[in-house]
Amino acid sequence: MPIPIILDCDPGTDDALAIFLALASPELSVLAITVAGGNVGLDRTLPNALTLTALAGSAVPVHAGADRPLLGQFVSAPHIHGTDGLGGMILPTGKPAAPGLAADVIRRILRESPDPVALVGIGPATNLALALATEPALITQVARIVLMSGAWAEGNVTPAAEFNAWSDPEALAILLATGRPVVFATLELTAQALVTPARITAWRALGNGRCLHAASDIQASLTPSPRLAGQGTPLHDPCAIAWLIQPALFTARDCAVRIDLGPGPSRGRTLIDRWSGATPNATVLETLDADGFFALLGERLARLP
Ligand code: RIB
Ligand code: CA
Repeated sequence: MPIPIILDCDPGTDDALAIFLALASPELSVLAITVAGGNVGLDRTLPNALTLTALAGSAVPVHAGADRPLLGQFVSAPHIHGTDGLGGMILPTGKPAAPGLAADVIRRILRESPDPVALVGIGPATNLALALATEPALITQVARIVLMSGAWAEGNVTPAAEFNAWSDPEALAILLATGRPVVFATLELTAQALVTPARITAWRALGNGRCLHAASDIQASLTPSPRLAGQGTPLHDPCAIAWLIQPALFTARDCAVRIDLGPGPSRGRTLIDRWSGATPNATVLETLDADGFFALLGERLARLP
């Protein structure tokens, strides 16, 4: 049976490929896509999600969500994703957003689903936190929470913190406090999923679909990460989706994870404890079979229109 998921995102050049991967994979049943401000403002991430689902020929409903974190100021990352959030690609406009705000829709789906639903968070976790904090009784309807979030060590938005965790650390803390299984794809994991020109060339050879080439164009528009010595561009968000589809591509370790909620320079840091004996509250993905990951992603992108 396909795994029912709700995908919460902030597209986003890597979110784009995560959305395509989720929609192209029969192992998953995407019940809804919910959108937050993050990489760029909600005024861009929402139309981007609508464009991407239209390109994929998908009828999955897309819902607007939070345009700011639970606390503090909204800060975006256009220097990474372009001011439009998709690397400057000119793509067709999608359909209008489905009615209903993200947190309300997440709660409705959880309330009505016959089976527990996996919540996949690949942006700031505001929508997921708002849904679960305002109706705690639904927690047992959450099969697991799978996040691209956090880092063992060096961050990518500050030296201490990864962007999604840093953007709304209180939201991430709320998710961890639910007690439901939480899976982290951290920066150290996604640094193993490096997009390179050779990998993009290999994708393009897989077919002529508009999604395959849009994904290739989006990734080709990016500057290799200086944080990773220009070796390539880390493909963060599809890692969270790929774990649900093919967990054998990964190794993982149960850890105790806490979030720094202070106002100082380490705000948003994920403190991942794997040795002190503290009770684990999350599973942290550690290694990735990168060639297997890119083969899976290419094969699924090639299935799309
Ligand atoms: O730190 C990387 C994460 O932040 C990715 O999800 C990227 O899309 C941004 O949301
Ligand atoms: Ca994202």
